Amino acid sequence: MGTALSVLHVRVWRGTESGEYQEFQVPRLESQTVLDVVTHIQRKLDPTLSYRFACRVGMCGSCAMTVNGKARWTCRTHVASVSDEERLEIGPLRNLPVIKDLVTDMAPFFDKWAAAKGQFRGSATRNDDFARVSPESRQRRLVDESIECIGCGVCYSSCDVVTWKPDYLGPAALTRAWTLVNDVRDVDQRERLTAVAGDAGCHACHTQMTCTERCPKKLSPTAGIAGLKRAVLSAALKGEI
Ligand code: FES
Repeated sequence: MGTALSVLHVRVWRGTESGEYQEFQVPRLESQTVLDVVTHIQRKLDPTLSYRFACRVGMCGSCAMTVNGKARWTCRTHVASVSDEERLEIGPLRNLPVIKDLVTDMAPFFDKWAAAKGQFRGSATRNDDFARVSPESRQRRLVDESIECIGCGVCYSSCDVVTWKPDYLGPAALTRAWTLVNDVRDVDQRERLTAVAGDAGCHACHTQMTCTERCPKKLSPTAGIAGLKRAVLSAALKGEI
């Protein structure tokens, strides 16, 4: 561990849906991430603190929390970028049930991926050759960004429509649907467009764009949702759904 520059005053959520913030003092270090701070608390100050992480390099999507009021991936968020007063408030993601402390139940989030027909279903058999999708094709290029989603839940936690309308599928599930709608190998397109066309689907989006503003991978769920709206309209006009 490096030499402490000062002391960080950190309020951390303790409990379940009901609970309270508990304050800890953590040595402020150079290049420190928010995940480093939480890890310090759990390893040095209170081993009963529950939180989630895995890769620590921005790939697995498991470390998202609410930091000073905004959902963020904590392993790639430097303390310096979110706090200039040596104060941090760290809580669980919004819009999801809290299991304990900083750990939320992600089941409702991934249930919505399933409800949006987020599973690929092809028609090829093991005897067929690999399907070749040109990286330059229009449909493949439309989802160049969306396929990079790491499922961290930051967009879902930041979406006010999810708060107002808990059955709304949300930006991540709709982004997944958008990638598959453009997958020429998939054979469930009618079912998928029907799944995202309902009241809780893409038309519920108010285009507030908080998802796009907060996505740590700099993706635009809003653009994918707009694409889904066009695809649903086109399929409806053709009588396909
Ligand atoms: S720990 Fe994997 S994305 Fe942060």
